[in-house]
Amino acid sequence: MNNIVLCGYMGCGKTTVGKALALKMNTVFIDMDEYIEAAAGMHIRSIFEKFGEEHFRKLETMAAEELSKKNGLIIATGGGAVLNHKNVGLLKSSGKIVLLDVPFTEIEKRLEGDRSRPLLLRPDRDQAMLQLYCARLPVYREVADLIIDAGDKSPDDVCSDILSAVS
Ligand code: S3P
Repeated sequence: MNNIVLCGYMGCGKTTVGKALALKMNTVFIDMDEYIEAAAGMHIRSIFEKFGEEHFRKLETMAAEELSKKNGLIIATGGGAVLNHKNVGLLKSSGKIVLLDVPFTEIEKRLEGDRSRPLLLRPDRDQAMLQLYCARLPVYREVADLIIDAGDKSPDDVCSDILSAVS
């Protein structure tokens, strides 16, 4: 089986859906952010604070390189991973990219009070979050092999939609 690579904006449910999907498909789930954290020995937030976003993006590409050599994985990417063409090429070479498409109003609710995402730790958080969302959505839609409407569905229902579309 080829990898299934979940992409989409922060808070769209990549990790939750990825875990559930891996259970249903009896296969291995990898969260790219956790993979990077394990390799770097520090949290994403600390990587950003100590070394900056550019360095994090390099680690992200290294992770995409390593993971795209494997098969049969369910991979949850970080929200910025597929904005880089190189990462997209790598991830597509070993699998299908699936976008979890969630409306901004729902993302806003899900990320309320979240302090774990370095890109959202800023005084103009709400405005920045919307700007980033609007800039990224067309890219997500462009790179995705499959777009799943995941706004008002349970993780189980999103999994069923993915399974019926890929099988
Ligand atoms: C990022 C999203 C995060 C993480 C990092 C950067 C982004 O992952 O990779 O903070 O650029 O959108 P999640 O999408 O899992 O929050």
